[in-house]
Amino acid sequence: MNCNAIGVAIANTYQLDLRPMYVCICKAITDADIREAAEAGVADVEHLTERLGVGGGCGTCLDMAEEIIDACRANQLAYAA
Ligand code: FES
Repeated sequence: MNCNAIGVAIANTYQLDLRPMYVCICKAITDADIREAAEAGVADVEHLTERLGVGGGCGTCLDMAEEIIDACRANQLAYAA
């Protein structure tokens, strides 16, 4: 399962459609942006904040951003094994 498939799973969990979903409203960052950053090597939400600014405003998005990063990392590790 790649990160896009994880995005589909997350969308299904939250009963969302498959269009890019804004995770961070303050910085206009979507779930697709976060998955792309994870695929480029971002491994945690702190690094994500440094790179994209996610969480740099109100911080409401941090839990969901972390969930997406963790899911992508778990997927990458599973396929690397
Ligand atoms: S929604 Fe991400 S910092 Fe406010």
